[in-house]
Amino acid sequence: MPRLLALSGSLRARSSNGAVLRSALELFDGPTGTADIGALPHFNPDLDGEGATPPGPVAALRTAVGAADALLLVSPEYAHGVPGVLKNALDWLVGSGECVGKPVAVITASPFPTGGDHANAQLRETLRMMTGTVVADACREIPAIGPKVDPAAERVTDAPTLADLRTAMTRLAAAVPRPDGAPTDPAPAAGAIAGTTGATV
Ligand SMILES: Cc1cc2nc3c(=O)[nH]c(=O)nc-3n(C[C@H](O)[C@H](O)[C@H](O)COP(=O)(O)O)c2cc1C
Repeated sequence: MPRLLALSGSLRARSSNGAVLRSALELFDGPTGTADIGALPHFNPDLDGEGATPPGPVAALRTAVGAADALLLVSPEYAHGVPGVLKNALDWLVGSGECVGKPVAVITASPFPTGGDHANAQLRETLRMMTGTVVADACREIPAIGPKVDPAAERVTDAPTLADLRTAMTRLAAAVPRPDGAPTDPAPAAGAIAGTTGATV
């Protein structure tokens, strides 16, 4: 089964995007994990050159991304852009190559009726530049997120949103090439997806 690693662009406690991330992981058919990107130093090419030893949190992120078969980015939008913490994490991954050819889904959730589209498009463009495989039909912009989540439970509670997240996670899993090079399995039927294992990638 493919292994999924998720990164959140929100460091906020009771984050709505954090709730989306947790629900999405529970709908993914395979082991899942998250990477803590809040402790990463600011990207500095001087720390990333040939022969340089990357800072510990950077090495840990690269190991986690490298071990994953697919990536999920879930993020709010700040000032029509990508939160700095998430762009910083991606900058650390540009030169090291762990994202190359890796299926990636981008989900942005906003309290506004049309929010999140700028950050979603920018993340997808950055990932394309990094030669990740953006799985377009697994990407989502979730508007008016407020009443769709339970902040205390840190989960999505809105049934249509959960169903759509299930579809997105099924499509992301289906985009992972099989180890033997055979075509990926057809998407399993709704309801056939196991819940999260809670395992760490
Ligand atoms: C500084 C700042 C800028 C924001 N800019 C945007 C924006 O451009 N578009 C948008 O949809 N929401 C914007 N928001 C609202 C966030 O989407 C909202 O705070 C959201 O709940 C943050 O996600 P979280 O709950 O996962 O932390 C902004 C919020 C802050 C604090």
